[in-house]
Amino acid sequence: MIFGELTRKYSPLEAWLHERFIADRVLDTQSDIFEREKLAEVFAEEKERFVLDVGCGGGQMVHRLHRLYPHLRLWGIDLSEELIARARERAVQEGNSLQFEVANAQDLPFSDGKFDVVFSLFSIKHWPDPLQGIGECWRVLKAGGELLLVDTTSDAGREQVLSVIEKMGFPGLLQKPAARFVYQRLIRPSSPMETYRQISTQLEMPPGTVSQPSYIPTFLFRTQKPEA
Ligand SMILES: C[S@@+](CC[C@H](N)C(=O)[O-])C[C@H]1O[C@@H](n2cnc3c(N)ncnc32)[C@H](O)[C@@H]1O
Repeated sequence: MIFGELTRKYSPLEAWLHERFIADRVLDTQSDIFEREKLAEVFAEEKERFVLDVGCGGGQMVHRLHRLYPHLRLWGIDLSEELIARARERAVQEGNSLQFEVANAQDLPFSDGKFDVVFSLFSIKHWPDPLQGIGECWRVLKAGGELLLVDTTSDAGREQVLSVIEKMGFPGLLQKPAARFVYQRLIRPSSPMETYRQISTQLEMPPGTVSQPSYIPTFLFRTQKPEA
């Protein structure tokens, strides 16, 4: 079965499907949450800032951020060799020197406190142990740095999923099968928001904020690492 197991890296076929049909559509749906949360303020400050995307897929978000904020020092890591190869090809095509590495969120190859911003989009539900992975994101974050975690939640209902598929611009005939697939394979196996609250408490993070757009079955958890 192609999508039989959730907690593992993407297979070459999943990587191709994600790259070809999903990544940009999903990132477009996130623009409102980014605006509402004023995330531009996190990135726009005109000083050298180190930013990491954990589970970056083909690097679309890293490239988007680079186009908007060329002063950022951006890294992306992902377990999938195919998607990291694609992210590197994008960097060559766009003539930049963004850094992409094959690595596991559960064991990040970076020193403590390296990054000013660590973010992850739609990847956590694939990690075998989210407590370990989120703990790694927290470890590599500087004191005073921002952690931004976006993912689907199992709190969402079927209607919300269909509504987001419509907004993502899938062709009409594909909408219902796509919604069924997303609900069964990506939403139901995700964790409820409560799990993330418990993880942040276990990791002794400040409570931060959680936003959930009304029409997208996703959440953004945002918190700042206390100054030492
Ligand atoms: C739904 S995709 C999201 C990709 C990208 N963040 C985006 O929004 O387009 C999930 C990604 O998480 C990656 N992934 C799964 N488990 C991982 C792990 N343990 N460490 C790093 N990446 C992982 C997959 O290979 C895949 O690229």
